[in-house]
Amino acid sequence: MPSLSYHHRFVPGTNPSAPPLLLLHGTGGDENDLVPLAQKLSPGSALLSPRGDVSEQGARRFFARLAEGKFDPVEVTRRTHALADFIGAATQQYALDPTRLIALGFSNGANIAATLLLLRPETLAGAVLLRPMVVLAPGQLPDLARKRILLSSGANDSIVPNDHPARLADCFRSAGATVTLATHEAGHGLVPGDLTAMSAFLAPA
Ligand code: MLT
Repeated sequence: MPSLSYHHRFVPGTNPSAPPLLLLHGTGGDENDLVPLAQKLSPGSALLSPRGDVSEQGARRFFARLAEGKFDPVEVTRRTHALADFIGAATQQYALDPTRLIALGFSNGANIAATLLLLRPETLAGAVLLRPMVVLAPGQLPDLARKRILLSSGANDSIVPNDHPARLADCFRSAGATVTLATHEAGHGLVPGDLTAMSAFLAPA
């Protein structure tokens, strides 16, 4: 088998009707962080969980940060394509259906899931974005018709600027996606309301 470009964890699915999930951890996390949450929310889903390959003083991320909330669009674009290429190769290697693949990303992981949708929409069927912010403003919107996206935000988040979740939701809606924006009385950390919103989103139709 060809070697895959990201260190990652793969958990085979046991329930064919549960969608495969792409798990994307936050800054300082790793490929194990979101596995228990994913198993609770979507039992039996296959889980593909890469480890961020950028180090911020030892804290793993999926793209670099110049300062809090400041990014280099060229680097973000390059990292997004690299991750999309990994996803393409991994879905083949593990026989996952890319048309059913849902990203579950937290913080920096939510942000790269958002840039995947904007730059390489063919890699995902949808996404659960936990505490996302606006990282890229693409000149041209992709066609996100038939993509389902949940944005789960904290009203008192000290990292995500206040207007970003609604701006990102509007961007996805303009691109044709079906978007739910859930805002919780919370900061950057997750609260029970996030779980409720995620469960409803991931529940079989
Ligand atoms: C980011 O850099 O992607 C965001 O600031 C979220 C974070 O990682 O803290």
